[in-house]
Amino acid sequence: MSTPIAIIGTGLAGLSAAQALHAAGHAVQLFDKSRGSGGRMASKRSDAGSLDLGAQYFTARDRRFTEVVQQWRDRGWVAEWTPTLYNFRNGGLTPSPDEQVRWVGTPRMSAITRALLGALPVNFACRITEVFRGEQHWGLQDAEGQSHGPFSHVIIATPAPQATALLAAAPKLAGAAASVAMEPTWAVALAFERPLDTPVEGCFVQDSPLDWLARNRTKPGRETTLDTWVLHASSAWSKQHLDLPKEAVIEELHGAFAELIGCAVPAPVFSLAHRWLYARPAQGHEWGALADADLGLYACGDWCSSGRVEGAWLSGQEAARRLIEHLGR
Ligand code: FAD
Ligand code: NAI
Repeated sequence: MSTPIAIIGTGLAGLSAAQALHAAGHAVQLFDKSRGSGGRMASKRSDAGSLDLGAQYFTARDRRFTEVVQQWRDRGWVAEWTPTLYNFRNGGLTPSPDEQVRWVGTPRMSAITRALLGALPVNFACRITEVFRGEQHWGLQDAEGQSHGPFSHVIIATPAPQATALLAAAPKLAGAAASVAMEPTWAVALAFERPLDTPVEGCFVQDSPLDWLARNRTKPGRETTLDTWVLHASSAWSKQHLDLPKEAVIEELHGAFAELIGCAVPAPVFSLAHRWLYARPAQGHEWGALADADLGLYACGDWCSSGRVEGAWLSGQEAARRLIEHLGR
């Protein structure tokens, strides 16, 4: 068996790279600090059913991604979500229908990365703190002080701020990652016993602490008797209220929701708040992936591309492509 390739991060970028390398006959070993895969596409299991707190849906514009999404659909991992869309601007709510195809994981967003992970070897609850070069191979050190390896190559598939320290062996790559600012998003989920009296199923919001809201249970396959909603605060509001206690965030965003939704909003029977510290890159980049091919160190993630689900997948593919190409020389 050949020396495996380490991949740090089991979000879509890491799993996209893992799939491509596995398909090309390379052994991979994945690591994630969380207890499960998905990263920002993870879903939260709760008393109100599973809730998509991060990525809400995704679009496919690149031909390669469009093709792969069709395969995911044929396997039942994703389905189209066709919400009744609204726009909230200047204090007014107006219908905002469009023709855009929007995809979601079924029965929850995390189904996609779970399926991609399949039986690939993975260490969960393992936060990598250092990527170091041995005489011939790479090694990893985790937060418990344990070492992992040897590995022939390392792919770092974490958000840019977390990638910077892990890229210390390649200062140029570390510098590029350090230049990427990532902005936070506060997410709140609310569940109501009876359906709210509104046709809104998704809404793009301006001029409010919120920038998006979705009726979670209108996504295909979401089993719940409650009327579940996910609210996202804008980057600006999230930055200003980064350290607000969760209860206060729920109260503020529940208030903003009640103000704009145009119907009576009772007290929710369930609520939770989640803070995404590195939710989205402040700007898109067109790096595809970062690579020091001679060293054998790579970085990928949405921040190397469009800052969306599609960008994360494309970036993972690009890291794998460059690694395989270098091996073939
Ligand atoms: P991530 O999903 O962040 O994966 C990185 C992984 O690395 C994580 O699992 C993390 O636990 C792990 N990790 C980090 N550091 C370490 C370490 N030191 N050791 C081990 N593991 C580590 N995109 C869309 O297209 N449509 C949307 O509607 C949309 N909405 C969004 C809403 C929110 C609130 C957020 C936060 C994001 C949204 N996005 C959306 C963006 C989308 O979720 C991301 O672009 C995509 O999921 C990023 O995937 P990734 O693999 O690059 O990173
Ligand atoms: P998309 O094409 O549906 O949306 C792109 C943008 O176009 C929207 O943000 C919105 O401003 C506008 N828009 C689209 N349809 C609209 C409509 N019917 N009415 C009014 N405005 C409309 O999807 P795409 O390009 O795949 O983007 C994904 C979404 O993910 C975006 O909304 C983006 O803001 C969101 N996102 C959120 C993050 C966060 O941290 N909160 C991180 C990354 C992406």
